[in-house]
Amino acid sequence: MELPFELATAIEEQLAFIPIKKLSAIVTRLSEDYRSSRMSSGEFDEGSYIGTYEEALAYVAFRMPATFAAAYFALSQAKERLPALSPKTLLDVGAGPGTAMWAAAMVWPELEHITLVEREQNMIDIGKKLAEYAGRPSIRQAEWIKADVMGEWSVSQHDVVIASYVLNELPQHSIEQFALGLWDKTGSLLIFIEPGTPAGFSLIRQVRERLLAQGASIVAPCPHGNSCPVPEDDWCHFSQRLNRTRLHRQIKGGTLSYEDEKFSFVCLSRIPGSDIKGIVVRHPQIRKGHIYLKLCTPEGIVNATITRKDKERFKEARKLDWGSIVRW
Ligand SMILES: C[S@@+](CC[C@H](N)C(=O)[O-])C[C@H]1O[C@@H](n2cnc3c(N)ncnc32)[C@H](O)[C@@H]1O
Repeated sequence: MELPFELATAIEEQLAFIPIKKLSAIVTRLSEDYRSSRMSSGEFDEGSYIGTYEEALAYVAFRMPATFAAAYFALSQAKERLPALSPKTLLDVGAGPGTAMWAAAMVWPELEHITLVEREQNMIDIGKKLAEYAGRPSIRQAEWIKADVMGEWSVSQHDVVIASYVLNELPQHSIEQFALGLWDKTGSLLIFIEPGTPAGFSLIRQVRERLLAQGASIVAPCPHGNSCPVPEDDWCHFSQRLNRTRLHRQIKGGTLSYEDEKFSFVCLSRIPGSDIKGIVVRHPQIRKGHIYLKLCTPEGIVNATITRKDKERFKEARKLDWGSIVRW
C-alpha cells in the first residue's frame, strides 16, 4: 500500500521543517503513550493528547501512513458491498490531519463536499496544509470545524461518516451515545476503525451491537448481521502492509522496509450490502495440495480446506488474502 503521491509529497515537504532528531524523539514519546493503556483504561483525562504543532507533525510522520492504509481498506470493502453507493458528502470526525478524507476521496472520487471535525487546532492547521497539495477540489476546499465532539456540536447529515482511531480517545461511558449521535448524522454509511487489539476490537464490537439494535445493516467486514461469533478471548482484526520511505525508517529508527498495520473496523449502512458467503479472517495457509481458510460466515467461524482436486475453487482460493471477500 502506498500513499497517494500528492499526500506523500505533502508530508515530506511539511516534515522538512523539523530536524529528524527532534521528530524521532517526539515519535518515541508518542509511541510509548499510544502503547500505554492510559487511553482506554478510563484514566484518560480527556486533556490534549497531541498538543503542539510538532506533535501533530510527528503524528503525520509516524501514524498517518498506517491509518490511511486501514481507512483505505475499510472503505474499499464497503464500496465492494455497496457498489451502487455514490456519496457526495463525507463527514470525518476526530479527523486529525484529515487521513480518512484522503482515503475516501480515492475510493469515491465523486465526493463533492467534505466536513472534518477535530478538537486540536494544530491537527487542523497541518491538515489544511496537506490538503493544499491535493488535486481534488473536494479535499482542497474541505470544511474544517474545530469542536470537541464530547461537547455541543452540530452538522447536517452526510452520505458517509467516519470515525477513524477515535473511539479509544473518548471516555468509555460515552461510546454508545457518540455512536448513536453519528448514526443520526449518517445518510448512508457509517464507519468506525480502531487499532487491531483486543481493546480496539471490543470498542468495535460494542458499537456494532448497539447500532445493529438501532436497525443498521452491516456491510463490512462481517458477512452477516448476527451477533459476532468471535470468542471472547480472540479479536477480529485485519492487516495492511505499507512500504516505509527512507524518512519513515529514519524517524521510526527501524530497518524494515515495511510495516504491518493491524486494525479492527465495522461499516454500518442504512441499506443492506450485496450478499457474500464469508470473509477470510486470518492469513490463508497455502500448502502443496491444500489451502486452509479461516472464514467468518453467516453460520459462524468456519475452518475450510480447499483441495487441489477442486480445481476451480482452488484457483479462486489462491487469490484470497486476509480480509478478502468470499462469494462462493
Ligand atoms: C488517533 S487520532 C486519529 C486521526 C485520524 N482520524 C486518523 O485516522 O489518522 C485521533 C484524533 O481524534 C481527535 N479527538 C480525540 N478526542 C476528540 C474529541 N473529544 N473531539 C474532537 N476530536 C477529538 C484527536 O485530537 C486526534 O486528532
